[in-house]
Amino acid sequence: MFRFFLILLFVVCSSCKYESQKSSQNFGSDSEEKKYDLYEPSEMALHMNVMFDIQKSIKEDIQNGTTPTDFPEEILKIHSAQMSDFKERNQTFEAYSHLFVEKFELIFDSTSQVPLEKRYNDAVKLCLNCHQTECTGPIPRIKKLLIK
Ligand code: HEC
Repeated sequence: MFRFFLILLFVVCSSCKYESQKSSQNFGSDSEEKKYDLYEPSEMALHMNVMFDIQKSIKEDIQNGTTPTDFPEEILKIHSAQMSDFKERNQTFEAYSHLFVEKFELIFDSTSQVPLEKRYNDAVKLCLNCHQTECTGPIPRIKKLLIK
């Protein structure tokens, strides 16, 4: 049983490096961080964190009764950002990234008859769908973005 847990832990950690090393990054200021940490997050990893923050602030807006109106163009960087060396832009990634952007755009469609919260959650579910195939580490964090 313990061995199984170790294997599971290994799979989770190796599926997305940064999550497992994040704790070691919290020391020191930004400039010190670089010196002491051997792991440099990829452009895509940084962009994913930006997407996380954008999605989180949209969630807060919705919960405060504000309808998000400005489509944040930077989300489109998912189509161009450089990935970590151990990842590649394969067909699955391409397919999911386009689906995600489609769903994400619907959040800002003021003519939609679908409730805003559902459109928002549909976008988060695509974060989760892609992560189930590509990178399972951040899934627990992403799940917290869902509006219950
Ligand atoms: C098309 C697939 C795909 C979609 C959609 C996607 N991700 Fe990711 N995500 C990835 C991949 C691949 C990585 C690893 C990137 C790397 O290491 O270069 C990643 C990494 C991450 C990370 C870890 C970044 C780090 O610091 O290492 C977080 C957090 C994350 N994604 C959150 C999200 C959120 C939130 C959404 C939706 C708003 C989302 N992702 C949508 C594929 C996806």
